[in-house]
Amino acid sequence: MEETLKKIREEALSALDAQDCNVEEIRIKYLGKKGELTSVLRSMGQLSAEERPKMGQLANEVRATIEEKIASLAEKQKEKALFEALEKEKVDITVPGRKQKLGKLHPLTQVQREMEDIFIGMGFSIAEGPEVEYDYYNFQALNIPENHPARDTQDTFYITDNILLRSQTSPVQARVMEKQQPPIRIISPGRVYRSDEVDGSHSPLFHQLEGLVVDKGITMGNLCGMLETFAKTMFGENTRIRLRPHHFPFTEPSAEVDVSCFVCGGKGCRLCKGEGWIEILGAGMVHPNVLRNCGIDPDIYTGFAFGMGIERIVMCKYGIDDMRLLYENNVRFLEQF
Ligand code: DAH
Repeated sequence: MEETLKKIREEALSALDAQDCNVEEIRIKYLGKKGELTSVLRSMGQLSAEERPKMGQLANEVRATIEEKIASLAEKQKEKALFEALEKEKVDITVPGRKQKLGKLHPLTQVQREMEDIFIGMGFSIAEGPEVEYDYYNFQALNIPENHPARDTQDTFYITDNILLRSQTSPVQARVMEKQQPPIRIISPGRVYRSDEVDGSHSPLFHQLEGLVVDKGITMGNLCGMLETFAKTMFGENTRIRLRPHHFPFTEPSAEVDVSCFVCGGKGCRLCKGEGWIEILGAGMVHPNVLRNCGIDPDIYTGFAFGMGIERIVMCKYGIDDMRLLYENNVRFLEQF
């Protein structure tokens, strides 16, 4: 038996010496319930009373030696596994990060907000109106009765005979005046629609910004001063404005307003097509009929109004020569602004 025990010790220790040995398997093979050492211990009963304690002691020693070796090996293997895991999962925090792409506002939105800020700075507040509008507000209240030729230039999309997609932001004027007595000082930016074919300067959907001031004693001088302040803030301190007589059914007198070209300063260049001036908006003194239609007494109050295309301002400001670029959502184009 002594031989067997020594052999077990030798074999177990040398098995544990092998590289990458399976410690658990070896433990079961020698020390497990059905292990070799255990079966030797079971046969202990057959020994003589004299031999039993000797063999018992030896068997205990063998078990202790093997257990010790197993424990230290298991410890080493655990350390090794941990080290390997740490190596494998190592993150190099010095590697430069991947840059997050930040989106930004569309140039139309940027310019609209810039315009809003300028007018809010002059004491205007923002009024909104529906894009699906009554014929009444889009035309009739604004002194454009049925069959008036001014309707031709603002042909739009009809939902029914008297409901349409608004062709201008001017109906907001009428809606505000109906609800509120002067003093009134509002702007109204938003989408408008016309049944135009798409080309470099037309789109069935575009944006306008409307303005309206009504109070006692408002004159064309107030209009000019306000427009000049807007033009200088928007296009630069040296910008001048010019009013040309025009006709709009809802204003009298009416004017088209130009700004001096902010690229060439008025000498003539590609942007202003050699003119030195760029047309940016329509304006005038609110027609007494319009005031009357909306319940405001034209003998007490006067007012001015103006309306401009936001696309046009964006295109001038950034030198964009084709309006379609603003709607195509080409990120490489939009990223520039
Ligand atoms: N609504 C006009 C248009 O779409 C622009 C306009 C002109 C608005 C004169 C006004 C104005 O308020 O007074 O062409």
